[in-house]
Amino acid sequence: MELTQLPHTAFSMNDTQPALEYLAPYNLPTPEVLLILGSGLGSIADTIDSSQVISTKNIPGYPVSTVPGHKGRLVFGQLEGKHVMVVQGRIHVYEGYTPYEAAFPVRLAAALGARKFIVTNAAGGIHPDFSPGTLMLISNHINMAMEPPPIPHPGPPAVSPYDTAWINQILDLTRDQISLQKGVYLWTKGPAYETKSEIKAFAALGADAVGMSTVPEVSQAHTLGLKTLGISTITNHAAGLSPILLKHEDVLEVGKGIQTTLESLVRLILRET
Ligand code: HPA
Repeated sequence: MELTQLPHTAFSMNDTQPALEYLAPYNLPTPEVLLILGSGLGSIADTIDSSQVISTKNIPGYPVSTVPGHKGRLVFGQLEGKHVMVVQGRIHVYEGYTPYEAAFPVRLAAALGARKFIVTNAAGGIHPDFSPGTLMLISNHINMAMEPPPIPHPGPPAVSPYDTAWINQILDLTRDQISLQKGVYLWTKGPAYETKSEIKAFAALGADAVGMSTVPEVSQAHTLGLKTLGISTITNHAAGLSPILLKHEDVLEVGKGIQTTLESLVRLILRET
């Protein structure tokens, strides 16, 4: 089949043009780094210097959230001396969006000039050593949601869309300060948690952690050539690996507990890499 016949060629990389025109009067500084923060992991956005906050509902083309209490804000400003664009209230495919829609903030940040991307998420630990509270740098991912990635063309080959040199640099820098693991993140669409049998199958496939986000944005960032880093906060043992039944509130609670360390890590990365 000709590439032009593929259904996703209907999508455009220029869908951010109206948003760029809307943002132009704000005279935003070029964001060097895009930060997308997972549920319950967004507090760093409240500490940004000289921030400009823009509600996503006013931005033309920005996917409209249907989730009650959804923050839906972009925060522009400086963190550790770097200009950043922070997405508060990310877009999940389980809310009914396509991966292409979920990746809109990435296309927007790239169009504004961002060259680096740091994404965080909450995830269930599959690797036996990954207990709640573990921070895992994502070495690679598995798209188990079986959703086509949000690209209008095949893009460069993704041996891994995560920057290995960046990961190694961070592991070196944090050696004596912050305990970090490295592993493979597996994306399920959700919103239901997995069954014990699914987790057994995912472990056999090579997954170390499981979650419901990140892959659409990272796939898009890869096609746009952004240098990408993913950090999973392990908030629980994945289904069936512990006698405790999984609850969303517990996931948020553990996320809160590890926020300070995650924030120090993100600051260190911005400052020193
Ligand atoms: N499964 C899927 N997503 C998650 C989990 C989990 O166990 N924990 C946090 N997000």
